[in-house]
Amino acid sequence: MIRATRPESQVLSLFLRPMATDSNKFQAIISHCKEYGFIFPSSEIYDGLQAVYDYGQMGSELKKNIKDYWWNSMTQFHDNIVGIDAAIFMHPTTWKASGHVDNFNDPMIDNKDSKKRYRVDHLIEGFAEDVRNAGDAAKADAVLASMDALLAKDDFAGLKQLIDDNKMKCAVSGTCNWTDVRQFNLMFSTEFGSVSGEGEDNKVYLRPETAQGIFVNFLNVQKTGRMKIPFGIAQIGKAFRNEIVARQFIFRMREFEQMEMQFFIRPGTQKEWYEYWKAERLKWHLSLGLPADKYRFHDHIKLAHYADAACDIEFEFPIGFKEVEGIHSRTDFDLKNHQEFSKKKQQYFDTEINQNYIPYVIETSIGLDRMFLLIMSNAYTEEDLSTPEKPDSRVVLKFPAKLAPIKMAVFPLTKKDGLPEIARGIMDDCKKSFRCFYEEKDAIGKRYRRMDAIGTPFCITVDHQTKEDNTVTVRHRDSMLQERIPIDAIKGMVLGAIA
Ligand code: GAP
Repeated sequence: MIRATRPESQVLSLFLRPMATDSNKFQAIISHCKEYGFIFPSSEIYDGLQAVYDYGQMGSELKKNIKDYWWNSMTQFHDNIVGIDAAIFMHPTTWKASGHVDNFNDPMIDNKDSKKRYRVDHLIEGFAEDVRNAGDAAKADAVLASMDALLAKDDFAGLKQLIDDNKMKCAVSGTCNWTDVRQFNLMFSTEFGSVSGEGEDNKVYLRPETAQGIFVNFLNVQKTGRMKIPFGIAQIGKAFRNEIVARQFIFRMREFEQMEMQFFIRPGTQKEWYEYWKAERLKWHLSLGLPADKYRFHDHIKLAHYADAACDIEFEFPIGFKEVEGIHSRTDFDLKNHQEFSKKKQQYFDTEINQNYIPYVIETSIGLDRMFLLIMSNAYTEEDLSTPEKPDSRVVLKFPAKLAPIKMAVFPLTKKDGLPEIARGIMDDCKKSFRCFYEEKDAIGKRYRRMDAIGTPFCITVDHQTKEDNTVTVRHRDSMLQERIPIDAIKGMVLGAIA
């Protein structure tokens, strides 16, 4: 039974601040993440480190919940997918075989006045966005189409010409004084052993993708797990890229996490499996209750060095439609190259057709931090709760309940009359099943708003009536409606919502 609550605006006028417009929503999200313990700039006391971030007490919970949701949906719900956890450091030849030493480059351009370096595609995309915002969508589309065509041909002189012809400016110096377009490798390297500077032999890379840890373990897993094709290997882990244009908060980081799955298939079946995984992965996103109209596929024109087909799943962030996940048909590129470089056969014997072959691979690769940003962007809501008598507003994070850092808060109405003891009892009973939070400070309305700001879906209030009839008030985050339910029903209600 749900009953309408008294408007919370009558109880408090907390968290009053001007509503964020679309253009400053991204900034508001960044501030909110810091203010409520989701994300801090790395080593902030030393002024931070560009494009590196730390997850705080709320952020690490949300991140873990996203991880678990992905991991379970891959490994637990698919009989033929298993997970591994490979090391970040790998034998350096791995990256020669994978093509990353030679091909993991981005065309860059430097502004001679500001000395600022730009990724060419980002510079051009930024320019096109400005042109579009100024009302010339046709020109923006034409510039982007030219860029795609030039990138596909690695035509660096053509890209430079495109930048010059359109008088694209450096955001720092405001000038058009550009160097030529050059390639720049994105891998970080370090030395193995205690002495640095021992030359190339000692050089190891911080992996730029988790996928290679899966490829080099393909036969280990296949044999020890007696896996039959088609089967998948999933992994979650850190990846590192020396991104040049590393802005936009956690959208583009130098240290980030990927959730990748390589699906090994019979050669010739890649088209159908590619379509299958495109559909499956979109379904996964939508299963979180995320809005379908904020998603779209973007087919790659310029394919990565390993792919014969590829697309991105894009989401409409406050900064526009951007990639959150890639689906790649990687052919037998990686296993074939590892076979060649390691001189160890990477073949599978298919008993159904009595043939040995190197499997083809469909990859699904989603950035965990980018998924975090997606969830945060979609959840962040500013609501105007003003009444004629009083201005009021709230910031609420409308997370899917199963991802919320804290599922339930328990509040005794007062600090006396045995109410804290009952509230603690509820908390102790529930905390084994899901993450709870206890608080007895401040007025109930204030406590509700603090929970809204971190996205807690349920608040339970223990009051004097609880002592008489063993019921409590449940306050629902999104609707702000309150209902009275028996203590015995609390755990089931929350478990039902997060299942
Ligand atoms: N193994 C294939 C691969 O790494 P990718 O398209 O380069 O493909 C996959 O990366 C996903 O990893 C992207 O869709 C994005 O979500 C995430 N990602 C890539 N670079 C990132 C960065 N610098 N910061 C945060 N996430 C990143």
